[in-house]
Amino acid sequence: MAQLRVLFTHERIQRRVGELAAQIERDFAGQSVIFVGVLKGATIFLSDLARRVHLDATFDFIGVASYGRQKQTSGEVRLTKDVEQPLTGSNLILVEDILDTGLTMSYLRKVLMAHQPHCLKIAALLDKESRRIVPIKADYVGFSIPDEFVVGYGMDYAERYRNLPDICVLPPEMI
Ligand code: IMP
Repeated sequence: MAQLRVLFTHERIQRRVGELAAQIERDFAGQSVIFVGVLKGATIFLSDLARRVHLDATFDFIGVASYGRQKQTSGEVRLTKDVEQPLTGSNLILVEDILDTGLTMSYLRKVLMAHQPHCLKIAALLDKESRRIVPIKADYVGFSIPDEFVVGYGMDYAERYRNLPDICVLPPEMI
């Protein structure tokens, strides 16, 4: 029977999240930030990251139409939940689980820039650079990964596996 293969253990993720948090703290020293998490995949990353950033901070969440039961993006991104607080003049940190084709991030960047924040940074836990269709780079990247489908630590396949503490590769025969 096919099994999940651990790519990054929970301990390794925590160490890297701590490094990203330190970078954010340095970049925004003495300022406030708003973390905007992309539902639902980024929720666990956001909660770990935000707790390591010792700055004045608030959270918000934004929702986009997800992969659902399919592995491939349809190329179409649709807003399913908007942010709830005023973002004008704020230091926004958009928190995403994976930067894949870049379609979601470039769409969300446009949506959030319309709120006229003071600045907008992107924090992506994983980056599948080889899959990029739209040129977009994250300011804070946890790990670069090859073109494999991963689950756990918030990330799903057909809504399953989000609660795994590690990040694992889902073998093609399980898809
Ligand atoms: P993009 O618009 O193609 O960059 O897609 C980004 C979104 O696709 C991510 O936020 C994830 O929700 C989903 N996604 C991409 N690759 C994976 C994966 O390997 N596992 C789980 N979700 C993925």
